[in-house]
Amino acid sequence: MAAVLRRGSVLRLRLPAPVWLPLRGGGRAICSSAPRHGDSECFTPTLSARLAGLSYPELQQMSREDPDTFWGSIAQERLSWTKPFERVQDCDLDKGQVRWFLGGRLNVSVNCLDVHAQTHPERVALIWERDEPGTEVKVTYRELLESTCRLANALRSHGVLKGDRVAIYMPVSPLAVAAMLACARIGAVHTVVFAGFSSEALAGRIQDAQCKVVVTCNQAVRGGRAIDLKTTVDAAVRTCSSVKHVFVAQRTSSPAPKGDLDVPLEECVFGYRPGDVFGCMADIGWITGHSYVVYGPLCNGATSVLFESTPTYPDPGRYWEVVERLGINQFYGAPTALRLLLKYDESWVTRYDRSSLRTLGSVGEPINHEAWEWFHRVVGDGRCPLVDTWWQTETGGVCIAPHPAEDGAPIVPAMAMRPFYGVEPVLLGDKGECLQGPGVRGALCIKKAWPGLARTIYGDHQRYLDAYFKPYPGHYFTGDGAWRSEDGFYQITGRTDDVINISGHRLGTAEIEDALDEHPAVPEAAVIGVPHSIKGEVPFAFLVLKDGEQTQEVILKELRLLVATKIAKYAIPDHFLVVKRLPKTRSGKIMRRILRTVPGGQAGALGDTSTLDDPSVVTEIIAAHARYK
Ligand code: PRX
Repeated sequence: MAAVLRRGSVLRLRLPAPVWLPLRGGGRAICSSAPRHGDSECFTPTLSARLAGLSYPELQQMSREDPDTFWGSIAQERLSWTKPFERVQDCDLDKGQVRWFLGGRLNVSVNCLDVHAQTHPERVALIWERDEPGTEVKVTYRELLESTCRLANALRSHGVLKGDRVAIYMPVSPLAVAAMLACARIGAVHTVVFAGFSSEALAGRIQDAQCKVVVTCNQAVRGGRAIDLKTTVDAAVRTCSSVKHVFVAQRTSSPAPKGDLDVPLEECVFGYRPGDVFGCMADIGWITGHSYVVYGPLCNGATSVLFESTPTYPDPGRYWEVVERLGINQFYGAPTALRLLLKYDESWVTRYDRSSLRTLGSVGEPINHEAWEWFHRVVGDGRCPLVDTWWQTETGGVCIAPHPAEDGAPIVPAMAMRPFYGVEPVLLGDKGECLQGPGVRGALCIKKAWPGLARTIYGDHQRYLDAYFKPYPGHYFTGDGAWRSEDGFYQITGRTDDVINISGHRLGTAEIEDALDEHPAVPEAAVIGVPHSIKGEVPFAFLVLKDGEQTQEVILKELRLLVATKIAKYAIPDHFLVVKRLPKTRSGKIMRRILRTVPGGQAGALGDTSTLDDPSVVTEIIAAHARYK
């Protein structure tokens, strides 16, 4: 139901209309929903009773050939509707028209909270893994519903109406989740801004969405450091005339600076009850946090972990210590964190009990083979299925992943593999022709709409049509490239912008990176294409090296050999630049756009750097490049 604001190529949150209001003073609201199942195997969701007897291939077939029955039965049986839908869909990708469940009304916060608070109020909804190890807080569905209602009332009483926009600038915490759900409850549109963004970046997002309210905390705490959020918000709202109120909660005991628009928020006391534990480590400011920390797990009645800290605080064993202490069953993380952690000794993992883990998941970037093997063998003891999940902000949830699949179906390492129900990927060539059969690579598009697909860009529908439906008429264009293997499985090769053409050979830079990453001395690599007078383009590799015995000369020689063996001689980078760190977004993705400006000397024209985690990395790389030249 939700889509999320993306600045630059903006996609905004659209929530269903509110259907009823919470009671004042945090009382429980009345809901007429049917009881629901409480299972929470989030990588292999339970289907509706009507489809329960069907095998995986039958379900796949039905989701493609009869989407009305497939999605219609799931939506009817698994969601609580205040007004049933009259028609399952009215989609036409030729017109960029994506409409599902016409005439129906539901409220996503009711589906995340009330239906569970009715049937099992004391089940733990959230485990807040606070920055300081061992100080976790558990929040039941009943408690989360109460704090959501209180916050929804507070927003309403300060004039927030259906359709108004609310910026949430908070650390990962139960109150931030309650703020998201409170907005959804009253039909307001939330834009969750990562609490590490600067005041300018925050102001830009508030202005884009014309937010009426900002919800924040006095401070955030990460990696043992307190960060003043309220000061940043105060600086941001000075340039945002749309903001009428700033709601301020206390994360720490330090007093927040006072502002004219402030409305203080009181914190809740949380209880505890054990349950199945879904551990997605993403920040709620990213889509992964929206779908797999908040809306997905809560809609499924799961217990969701809110991870406030960093993977290396206080030491590189933090994730696995948390797995042991909280008994996490599904662990969902990002390749960037895995690449960081595998540099350390395996004992940081093995000293903790990880027997609670059942499924491991990776998302956000191509996962290189070394990281996949380490995650599977060391973290999962080789016994947990590891799913590389491909999806996007625009798709709302996982679209290509090894699961669901038939019982015992193989998982190919570092490959997203199988389309999810109802998702029909196609690979299109340069002229828009459909590339058939196995062993082909092309632009990854999706042929038919499914309910998770974004319906518009908030406030700019034309931009939505231009970005996603114009490049390949009649198809949703993902912006990614992919390869279909001999077995018919999909391998994502990276953004199509990251495809380079070396003497007529088209190659995703991710493939060269994957080969380079396999060298034990290379924890991270990024490859871009640079112009070449004869070959058209040649690869330029930025490398981070581990401290070790081998000289750079030896390592580079071995890397050339690796690329030649794994891919082909033509793919060997012409240039290797050793750097201390790579430029990354705050969600951990390598910013190749920034790297592309370095060899050509256009580093002055970096464009929007608000998502860059640490701008000093750029200066470091430019200096390294000057020495290299
Ligand atoms: O390029 C793909 C990459 O991340 C992009 C989507 O980014 P965003 O909208 O920020 O959403 C991140 C969370 C889903 C995709 O277009 N990407 C995501 N997952 C994978 C991936 N690339 C390769 N393999 C993946 N598993």
